[in-house]
Amino acid sequence: MSKIAYINSKYIKFNNAKIHIEDRGLQFADSVYEVVAIINKNLVDLKFHFKRLRYSLGKLNIEYKFNDKKLTNIFIKLIDNNLVKNGIIYLQITRGVQSREHAYKRNLKPTLIIYTQNKIFNLPNKNFKGVKAITHEDLRWSRRDIKTTNLLPNVLAENLANKRNAYTAILIKNNKITEGSHSNIWIVKNNKILTHPSNTDILKGVTRTTLKLIIKEFGLKLSENSFTKKQLYDADEVFLTSSGSFVTPVIKIDSKLINNGKIGNITLKLAKLYSKSFINE
Ligand code: PDD
Repeated sequence: MSKIAYINSKYIKFNNAKIHIEDRGLQFADSVYEVVAIINKNLVDLKFHFKRLRYSLGKLNIEYKFNDKKLTNIFIKLIDNNLVKNGIIYLQITRGVQSREHAYKRNLKPTLIIYTQNKIFNLPNKNFKGVKAITHEDLRWSRRDIKTTNLLPNVLAENLANKRNAYTAILIKNNKITEGSHSNIWIVKNNKILTHPSNTDILKGVTRTTLKLIIKEFGLKLSENSFTKKQLYDADEVFLTSSGSFVTPVIKIDSKLINNGKIGNITLKLAKLYSKSFINE
């Protein structure tokens, strides 16, 4: 069976799924997106993704109204047809097609793109691994709370990280850690968990939102405050969260080993609790 994608209101063979050359998503990154994890055919944290999608669309005045149930049914159909067990749904909504000019016209018809990818996740089982990261200046714009496809600085930082045999880049703005190139960053010091507050400097991750609830439920100590590169290097444990990486330990940053290069206890506990939240769904 060949893979299918969903473009606007049609299911199309993946290789035939195309968009217009004057789509504003292509020309100006005038678009928003979501990445939803699929585990055992289940969609992880779906309601938080829908909530954030509405937020991003609203902030950019992209007039696209959607019905949660209808969109979920499209996701399920793609998962079934593409035989995905573990993977992701990628959804992108662009402002639409218009003769090229910077300012957008009103009443454009947004473009909807949805497709699946298979993925092997880093879950806290016998293969659970810690990763290396590099630090890099955060060169992105000042509205990182909106999940736009305007990701070039993150792409370049991630590429440099991969070139240096690291999994990802941890981004720094004004000597404060903001987020990862595709994740949120957390540190643990003296049993206290610390992460950047959710303001316009970071994307308020869905994984971050769920993990905060778990931290609260299990009575662990959390503070949402920004922290420096020195605090990052001196942390007892560091981990990152995202819909593609779930809770992933960071065991080396630049040339500094974290927790002697081993996965920390709190990170492991949180990874297990988080994965339980969707494996039992
Ligand atoms: N990225 N910050 C940035 C810049 C991100 O791109 C992401 C996710 C996150 C974490 O958000 P969430 O927990 O909702 O996935 C934080 C996705 C996975 C991506 O671009 O592939």
